Amino acid sequence: MSYKQTKIWSVDNSFESEENLRLLREAALWIKKGEVIAFPTETVYGLGANALEEEAVKKIFEAKGRPSDNPLIVHIAETHQLKELVADIPTVAEQLMKHFWPGALTLIFKKKQVVAPSVTAGLETVAVRMPDHDVARALLKEAGVPVAAPSANLSGKPSPTTAQHVYHDLVGRIRGIVDGGKTGVGLESTVLDCSKPVPVLYRPGGVTKEEIEAVIGPIEVDPALLAADQTPASPGMKYKHYSPVGTVYLVQDTAKIPDLVSRAKKDGKRVGVLTTVENEGKYEADVVVACGSRMKLATVASELYQSLRRFDDDEVEVIFAEMFPYEGLGIAIMNRLEKAAAGEIR
Ligand code: TXA
Ligand code: MG
Repeated sequence: MSYKQTKIWSVDNSFESEENLRLLREAALWIKKGEVIAFPTETVYGLGANALEEEAVKKIFEAKGRPSDNPLIVHIAETHQLKELVADIPTVAEQLMKHFWPGALTLIFKKKQVVAPSVTAGLETVAVRMPDHDVARALLKEAGVPVAAPSANLSGKPSPTTAQHVYHDLVGRIRGIVDGGKTGVGLESTVLDCSKPVPVLYRPGGVTKEEIEAVIGPIEVDPALLAADQTPASPGMKYKHYSPVGTVYLVQDTAKIPDLVSRAKKDGKRVGVLTTVENEGKYEADVVVACGSRMKLATVASELYQSLRRFDDDEVEVIFAEMFPYEGLGIAIMNRLEKAAAGEIR
């Protein structure tokens, strides 16, 4: 499928204005008509289609070049929509929804048959979340249907945190983009399987394991998140992901970076360093990107994908990246960096 024009609907901060609503209605109409449009959420931009219509959902996979065995998350605006989609709502899920919805927590349930088969890639479960973003929820309400939406990047590329990223990846491949500015969290939602007797964490994300456990007690973690030789329970986690064009190396001992940089430069490479504001001045690479502050990991999460894309813009060939502590949001940040990286230097 290709489109002569990928329309952009720019909504501003006074999102309840008549003009914004008119724009969102127009975008929502395309969803109702079975087309695919991108929209902002609090995590990353999503690529949405009517989750109840198989033909519409297939267009998402086509536009992204997404493997068909990788299921999508269904987005809803109101809790009552959940009952249409899922066969059972366990008590733990109810507790989590009360605490974290709307928000960056995706819950997996046993599905009902109304959900289009491609959404779940043939699985008997469906992933659902309610985004914490005014524009997203206004759009979902206007569309009046549950909306299946993966991140709005080409498969394998860093997820988009601005409408410009979406445009870069998908222009001509989708009907339109709702531009609601930069997203906040910057990393995708946490994915938790509630269809199991004890909930299992499949993907670390915007809501941390500690925060979840504070509400429902101990949960399990998919062993594949801890050991590289295991097959992940969540199909999307097995793919290499989030990668810039250049080769990324994670460097544990940052004191080694200046030397790594000069050696790569001697080899004739264009070299980048991914660091934070604290260490920005320490490196003399071709491109040094300060991604937030170590003192506030939320700022690192928020800027991570745009930072990775910066290296592509500057045609960097080798990227040395500082690492982050494996705790709190650091777990999600390191999960994405590990997927972006070709290896680690100690
Ligand atoms: O923050 C987010 O979650 C963003 C925004 C747009 O909402 N969406 C997003 O979607 O990151 P996507 O498609 O990039 O990632 C969905 C993840 C994949 O790893 C997929 O395999 C997993 O959720 N998933 C979806 N349904 C599943 C299911 N029934 N069982 C196991 N994993 C599932
Ligand atoms: Mg994605």
